[in-house]
Amino acid sequence: MTVRRPPKVGRKTPAELELMRRAGEIIERTLEVLRQAMQPGVTTAELDKLAEDEIRGAGAMPSFKGYNGYPATICVEIEDVVVHGIPGSQRLETGTIVGIDVGCVFEGWHADAAFTVAIGEVDDLRRRLLDTAYRCLEAGVAAAQPGRRVADVSSAIQRVAEAEGFSVVRVLVGHGIGRQMHEPPQVPNYYAPGELADYEVLLRPGMTLAIEPMIAAGTWQVVVDPDGWTTRTADGSPSAHFEHTIAVGRRAAEILARGI
Ligand code: MF3
Ligand code: CO
Repeated sequence: MTVRRPPKVGRKTPAELELMRRAGEIIERTLEVLRQAMQPGVTTAELDKLAEDEIRGAGAMPSFKGYNGYPATICVEIEDVVVHGIPGSQRLETGTIVGIDVGCVFEGWHADAAFTVAIGEVDDLRRRLLDTAYRCLEAGVAAAQPGRRVADVSSAIQRVAEAEGFSVVRVLVGHGIGRQMHEPPQVPNYYAPGELADYEVLLRPGMTLAIEPMIAAGTWQVVVDPDGWTTRTADGSPSAHFEHTIAVGRRAAEILARGI
């Protein structure tokens, strides 16, 4: 019988956290530039270029580009795209919701954040989805306190989403972050007791996590396009994604890279 044990999760020193803060500032500035540029008619390739220039101009490197062969600096999440949409000639349209996910590495340390916004006016369903997905993230961050477990973060997120009748995407999860973009533990946005040893990881000061709820208006099941990346809801329902990189502190979590 295999006894599953929770993964060992490292803790960052104050000096390491300072470098992650700097990586986080670069990501926050990049998201701000993108937010301004996210107007109807802009192409997603134009947004990608803005992000890459901002990150490189700050002395950092885009962390997604080249990751498992991913071809761009940002992921673009239009409407039913949950994650990993590749930028290109597509133009943003009014009445839609669009997410952007971006990460960088600065002096060897990673930050990763995402937000979703309305382009022009959107219907009530999309408004409520955006609002709920952000509240999911806030609930997850609030639960990321020392002495609590990954399961508490997961449950907090799930509760907020399901209370609104929305579903939580399951195959994609949050993660530890630091020297690598993805480190233990996995941080699912739903809690299935016994399914994953990572749920038992005890949160301690200095642990750094990317918490990233991905919420769908319909089914939580997803499909991947023939490009091998673009991940959509299986029923075509809209989805929203927010992500902060945080550090567990002595009390409340510190946000190192704010996705908003
Ligand atoms: N924020 C996502 C993640 O944490 C983005 C990764 S996109 C990839 O997994 F292209 F780099 F894979
Ligand atoms: Co991430």
